[in-house]
Amino acid sequence: MLKASERPSDSSGPAESKAELYARLRAELSAMLEGERDFIANMANCAAMLFHALPDLNWAGFYLLKGSDLVLGPFQGKPACVRIAPGRGVCGAAAERRETLVVADVHQFPGHIACDGASNSEIVVPLTAGGRLIGVLDLDSPLFGRFDGLDKAGLEAVAEIVVKASEV
Ligand code: SME
Repeated sequence: MLKASERPSDSSGPAESKAELYARLRAELSAMLEGERDFIANMANCAAMLFHALPDLNWAGFYLLKGSDLVLGPFQGKPACVRIAPGRGVCGAAAERRETLVVADVHQFPGHIACDGASNSEIVVPLTAGGRLIGVLDLDSPLFGRFDGLDKAGLEAVAEIVVKASEV
């Protein structure tokens, strides 16, 4: 799949809005995961889809709760820190609060963990199943302020699709 920035522009109609992009990704993800319950495989394909479909990302992937730590799961991008202690970094904070964190400038976030020096903004969505925290979905961008409320809503829906489609 081509990255959004590499796709030839379509002169036959208006550019796809961000809301339309997420609606298309939700549909494509649901279709891609249909009939497959393996959580690792589904997270891997989801990370690949997001990394290639969303513009201006340098990292997209999952951390999974193992014991008290978040441990690196399937991702796309440069190699990343493997283990995040409770409450550490944006990932640990989102997991602890069980709420999506949108960080416009990671350098201003106390305790931010710099895995890839290219990252300037970040969004982290907690993954829950039956009220239990099971991990997080994490996206990084080299742009400042890359993520907004539409990304938050879109990625929360994406996270829910992956969890519901899988044996967790
Ligand atoms: N920056 C994250 C760590 C994970 S990497 O971005 C892939 C954080 O502060 O939790």
